[in-house]
Amino acid sequence: MSFNLLKGKKGIIFGALDANSIAWKTAETIHDEGGTFVLTNAPIAMRMGQIDELAKKTGSKIIPADATSVEDLDNLVTQSMEILGGKIDFVLHAIGMSVNVRKGRAYTDEKYDFTTKGWDVSALSFHKVMQSLYKADAMNEWGSIVALTYMAAQRTFPDYNDMADNKAYLESVARSFGYFFGKEKKVRVNTISQSPTATTAGQGVKGFNSFISYAEKMSPLGNATAQDCADYTVTLFSDLTRKVTMQNLFHDGGFSNTGVSQEVVDRFSE
Ligand SMILES: NC(=O)c1ccc[n+]([C@@H]2O[C@H](COP(=O)([O-])OP(=O)(O)OC[C@H]3O[C@@H](n4cnc5c(N)ncnc54)[C@H](O)[C@@H]3O)[C@@H](O)[C@H]2O)c1
Repeated sequence: MSFNLLKGKKGIIFGALDANSIAWKTAETIHDEGGTFVLTNAPIAMRMGQIDELAKKTGSKIIPADATSVEDLDNLVTQSMEILGGKIDFVLHAIGMSVNVRKGRAYTDEKYDFTTKGWDVSALSFHKVMQSLYKADAMNEWGSIVALTYMAAQRTFPDYNDMADNKAYLESVARSFGYFFGKEKKVRVNTISQSPTATTAGQGVKGFNSFISYAEKMSPLGNATAQDCADYTVTLFSDLTRKVTMQNLFHDGGFSNTGVSQEVVDRFSE
């Protein structure tokens, strides 16, 4: 089902690695809704992933950029405007990686250069992306910028490790930059706090399979899938949400406001 919500809109999509990626589903959905975009990912992910297939399918160009490199980001912004023929209407930041999680280091045993690297990739990169866009005056008025986050920023989920702190920082950057982008450029900035989703990044978290089933049972509407997230993101890129900004928007089937569900209570009555 397509509503042509993004007809004529141009954007940049970070983070499509493979067909499970939330960014991949979002790119397909934006394409269906009439939007055009440049795809970008870290140079290493180009070798590992299947982004060429997505580019072909959506008629998009790919520009490699390490989201921790200001030089790469400045180049990405300039080249994207050339390719798309003008300023940008939407940007999706769907980037996350913790070196401590990857290397099996517990939250109580962080290696701090791993922590710093993970923070740079997962959180500070959002500031860097927005600063590059801002300085180049690359966003159209009433444009929209979205980053993906997780509820561990507000509540503790032990195995989410240092990503919880990265997400808290990311959400704060959305509010702080959202102020300046709103005031000076009429651009909105929000984060979507998504349900656990079976992707490469998601499955890196210890105990992910049990956790995703727990969240499914706790959420009155069930977990939001990657496709659900893509659909929600399209609404935030559309002209129907022009005054929504500086928000962390929970997209989780109701999980975040549920104390306990009957299914979970029943488990403990067995
Ligand atoms: N999967 C979940 O359960 C879940 C839940 C809530 C939020 N999120 C968030 O959604 C976003 C997308 O993740 P996903 O679950 O689709 O997983 P994914 O593994 O498909 O995507 C993560 C992306 O980050 C990219 N990346 C890593 N380092 C980078 C760098 N230096 N420069 C540029 N890109 C880099 C990877 O190449 C990959 O494409 C992340 O921010 C993640 O934290 C995921």
